[in-house]
Amino acid sequence: MNLTEENLAKRFAAQSAVEQVKHGMVIGLGSRSTAEIAIRILGEKAKDGFQIVGVPTSHESEELARSLGIRVSTLAECPQLDLTIDGADEVELNSLDLIKGRGGALLREKIVASSSRQLIIVADESKIVDRLGARGELPVEVVPFAWQSTSLRLEKSGWKPVLRLTAERSPYITDGGHYILDCSFDSIHALQSRAVELHNTVGVVEHGMFLGMATEVHVGNASGVRVLDRSAIPHQGPRST
Ligand code: A5P
Repeated sequence: MNLTEENLAKRFAAQSAVEQVKHGMVIGLGSRSTAEIAIRILGEKAKDGFQIVGVPTSHESEELARSLGIRVSTLAECPQLDLTIDGADEVELNSLDLIKGRGGALLREKIVASSSRQLIIVADESKIVDRLGARGELPVEVVPFAWQSTSLRLEKSGWKPVLRLTAERSPYITDGGHYILDCSFDSIHALQSRAVELHNTVGVVEHGMFLGMATEVHVGNASGVRVLDRSAIPHQGPRST
């Protein structure tokens, strides 16, 4: 897929997801390129009198939404959202489990998604994998204080953490003021128990596995979109958040 096709694919996915948004809804606004296209489409609709309230997952999304005339709020004011539209780094085909956070937004995305009745993921076909972890590392957001100790604890649990750096070689700082350890691994089995183990690791704030959270995934390609629906997947339990 070349760049133009990729942008087209993202646009098809974003357009399709935005069709789920109804007048008057309170919407979680995701982060990075595909979610930003969805925000721009919502901005176009807002200009035509379509009213929504947006709760952003990052400073960038907040600035973009405001610049487009979308009414912006917070989870403090609107603790229950109708739906969230966000991107993903990997989508496991058989489960719709996700890896997120490679774009640097993670904790806020998970809090916003967890506060939404539906999480609609927008992605191009390159994000679809047979097994989670196929395309890269798992981002883990950690407290900056003694991050080296946290990193060691993760190593002892079988992860291979590397501190994410900026282009200037200083630690990347999330919107929440934390660092990110990008954790590679030999194999990522028993996701639920690995997720619990990460949450139990002192110094870890949140990890990028979004398990059982996506209700729909809108997958764009160069000629259109296909929608993967959680309710159509056999053996899936109820959405856990
Ligand atoms: C942000 O940290 C991620 O969770 C994004 O959702 C992810 O990186 C997708 O970004 P693109 O839509 O730019 O591929």
